[in-house]
Amino acid sequence: MKHLLKLQDLSRQEITEILDLADQLKYEKKNGIPHPHLAGKTLGMIFQKSSTRTRVSFEAGMYQLGGSALFLSPRDLQIGRGEPIQDTARVLSRYLDGIMIRTFDQAEVEALAEYGTIPVINGLTDYCHPCQVLADLMTMREYKGKLEGLKFCFIGDGNNMANSLIVGCIIMGIKVAIACPKEYQPDPEIMAWAKENGDFLCTEDVMKAARDADALYTDVWASMGQEEEKAVREAAFRGYQINDAVMAAAKPDAMVMHCLPAHREEEITAKVFEAHANEIFDEAENRLHAQKAVLVKLMK
Ligand code: CP
Ligand code: NVA
Repeated sequence: MKHLLKLQDLSRQEITEILDLADQLKYEKKNGIPHPHLAGKTLGMIFQKSSTRTRVSFEAGMYQLGGSALFLSPRDLQIGRGEPIQDTARVLSRYLDGIMIRTFDQAEVEALAEYGTIPVINGLTDYCHPCQVLADLMTMREYKGKLEGLKFCFIGDGNNMANSLIVGCIIMGIKVAIACPKEYQPDPEIMAWAKENGDFLCTEDVMKAARDADALYTDVWASMGQEEEKAVREAAFRGYQINDAVMAAAKPDAMVMHCLPAHREEEITAKVFEAHANEIFDEAENRLHAQKAVLVKLMK
């Protein structure tokens, strides 16, 4: 593994190794056992979009690993004034040991990896969010004791989260059911791949998707960069919500997950959110541990 650009690039074996290392790093962190695997190393973090979890967990994670992290805003970098990503990649490769980037276009992340000479980590694009899904798989394994054979249900927009969740779950042998409006389905190539490689369903029927699920997941109806579509999307996604009725269709011990930030009474009711806050905030915490595992795998 040279980069983390998208989950399609990883095997079940590689994901399992990341999750195992993440569990170990979590144990060491909780027990005050130092783990300075990246002493003297520096990660640059380029953010073209807002972030709470990704920014803070990567930055804190690098310090906990004995290294340091630089927050690079496009307002301050020459990228903001049009310097090509290809040149930025070649320059930053001379100073840093790794780059994490959150941006719009997946091609920008791929170009950074192609032109640079250091590991690149995708911290979210319009296409996918691999770091979040590694933390999600870690959390599911913690709560359910296994991954293979579980049923996973995603309700809402077929966006970057849905794309990465489909890929991550199918690689790990989890059955996937997505409920979304016809006009907002996940990436067609990813869906075709999922049908060939696992048990996959995409439907407009929320109850059918939720039936007997072990884990229910949702995300915002309007992602970053889609703010002007908010009203149209609110109308399209009405009913695509995790609520008591949907919970009743899932297994009695189903867990509820959300990448956050959450919009209560839109994609999830406040009641269900609070009833499952433990899972949701463990999931947020696991961003730290899963990403530290990725950093060690790529940069040590
Ligand atoms: N889930 C997630 O990536 O959160 P941030 O946008 O706060 O980083
Ligand atoms: N789909 C959301 C995920 C945020 C973590 C977005 O792209 O804004």
